[in-house]
Amino acid sequence: MNLPNYKEARVRGKESFPIENFVLDKKYQELGRGKTYYIKTYGCQMNEHDTENIKAILESMGYVEAEDMNVSDVILLNTCSIRENAHNKAFGMLGRIKHLKENRPNILVGLCGCMAQEEGVVKKIGEDYPFVNFVFGTHNLYDLPQILSNVSISLKQEIEVLAKPCKMMEDFPLKRVSNKKAYVNIIYGCDKFCTYCIVPFTRGQERSRRREDILKEVTALVRDGYMEVTLLGQNVNAYGKDLYPDYSLANLLEDVSRTGIPRIRFMTSHPWDFTDEMIDVIQKYDNIMPSIHLPVQSGSSRVLKQMGRRYTKEEYLTLFKKMRERIPNVTISTDIIVGFPTETEEDFNETLMLAKFCQFDNAFSFIFSKREGTPACKLEDLTTEEEKHRRLHQLNQILNEGFLASNQRLLGKRVPVLVDGVNETSKTALFGYTDTNKLVNFDGDCSLIGKIVLVEITECKTWSLDGKVVSDINVNV
Ligand code: 5AD
Ligand code: SF4
Repeated sequence: MNLPNYKEARVRGKESFPIENFVLDKKYQELGRGKTYYIKTYGCQMNEHDTENIKAILESMGYVEAEDMNVSDVILLNTCSIRENAHNKAFGMLGRIKHLKENRPNILVGLCGCMAQEEGVVKKIGEDYPFVNFVFGTHNLYDLPQILSNVSISLKQEIEVLAKPCKMMEDFPLKRVSNKKAYVNIIYGCDKFCTYCIVPFTRGQERSRRREDILKEVTALVRDGYMEVTLLGQNVNAYGKDLYPDYSLANLLEDVSRTGIPRIRFMTSHPWDFTDEMIDVIQKYDNIMPSIHLPVQSGSSRVLKQMGRRYTKEEYLTLFKKMRERIPNVTISTDIIVGFPTETEEDFNETLMLAKFCQFDNAFSFIFSKREGTPACKLEDLTTEEEKHRRLHQLNQILNEGFLASNQRLLGKRVPVLVDGVNETSKTALFGYTDTNKLVNFDGDCSLIGKIVLVEITECKTWSLDGKVVSDINVNV
C-alpha cells in the first residue's frame, strides 16, 4: 500500500526525473480477455487525456470498452479535485456503483485521478467505501496492469498512490477520442502554488517532456492526418525551464509549427511568465491559433496578492492590451474566481470593471471552493454563500455581454472552421470551431467533417455563431 502525502507532495526539488518507455509485461496481456471496462472522466483536458492513456492500457490487456457502466466488468472513475462539486459528483457516482455491486459483486471498481492524490479522500475510501477495489494516482498510471492483476486475485483493497512523481513515461499507448484533434502533453505538474489551488499537490512538480519526444508525437499525428494539436500543461508557459537553459515554449511552438500541423493550440497559460517572444511567435506563424486562455482570477490587485498570482491588475491589463494590439483578431478567454475568502464588495467591483473593460471572448467563472491543505483554506471567509452566488450571477451577466459583443464583430465575416461533427439536434447541421476557437453551427454534408472550410457568419449569439459554408476547399492543406 502507498498513500498520498501532502507534506511530500509540497516539496519541490532540483532532481531530474528518469525517463522510461512504457512496455506492457507479457503476463498482463491476456488479463482482460473477454472482459469489459467503463471509465467515467471528470475535470479538465489533462484528465481527459489521461483517460485516453488508461483506455489504451486496458485494451492492450484485452479489455473491451463497454457503452454502459451497468454491464461492464471494470468501472473506473478518473476524478477531479479542483472544486467541492467535482468531489460530490464522484462520491455520488460511487453511491450508485455501490448498489450495482450489490447485484454484481464480481465487478472491479477503481478510483484514479486527482482525488486519489488527496490524503482525506483516500482515508475516506479506506474507511467508508470498502467496495472500491483499487485506487491509483496521477503519477503512476503505468502501474494499472499490475494493480488490476493484484486485485483480481486478492480480496483486499489495493491503494497505490505515489505522493510525488518519480519518473516520466514515454511511449504510453493512447486511444484518442478524435482522429482529427489531439491533445499532446508538454509539461506535467505546477509549481505556482496559487493559494486556493490543489493542483500543485495532486499533479506534482513541473516536469517538461523532452522536445524531441513532443515533436515525434506531433510529426506522427501529421502523418496520420490530424488537423489540430492542443499542447497541454497546467502552466505551459513554464515549459522547458526544468530541462533546457535556453529553450522555452516560444521555441517549442516554432518547432511544432514547422511540423506542418494545420492548427496548434496550447493551454493553460499563466500571465506571470507569458513572454513577448511568445506573442511574436503566435503572431508570426499562421498555424498557431490566435486564441489564448489567460486566467486572471480576480480584478483586484489586493486579492491577486493573497491568491499568490504574482501579478497586479495593471500588469495583467498591460499584457492583455499587448496581445490585442500585436496579434490580429486574437481572442482571449479567462478564468475568474468570486468569493475568495477575503474578497470585499470593493474587490469584487474591481473584477466587474476588469471584465467590462476586457470583453473576454470566453470565460469560466467559479465560486471559491475551500480545498483542504491549501493556504486559502485557512483564511477566514468574509462572504455568505448567498452573496457569493449573487456575485457570480452579476459577473456572468457582464461576461455574457462581452461574449456577445465579441461574436457580433464576426457578423458577415468569412472565417476558417475546422468541422468537428454533426450537431446532435439536426442531421444536416454541422458544427466546428474557428481559428479563434468560436463555436459555429452551419448546414453541410458529413463529408466536410475533419476539413477546414470557409464559413460566412450569418448570426451571432452569446455562446455560438451560425453560418453558411462559402468554400469547402480544405483551406489549410
Ligand atoms: N475554487 C474555485 N475555483 C478554483 N480554480 C482553481 N482552484 C479553485 C478553487 N479552490 C479555478 C481557477 C483555475 C480553474 C482551472 O479553476 O480559476 O484557473
Ligand atoms: Fe492552480 Fe495556479 Fe497552478 Fe493554475 S497556476 S494549476 S491555478 S496553482
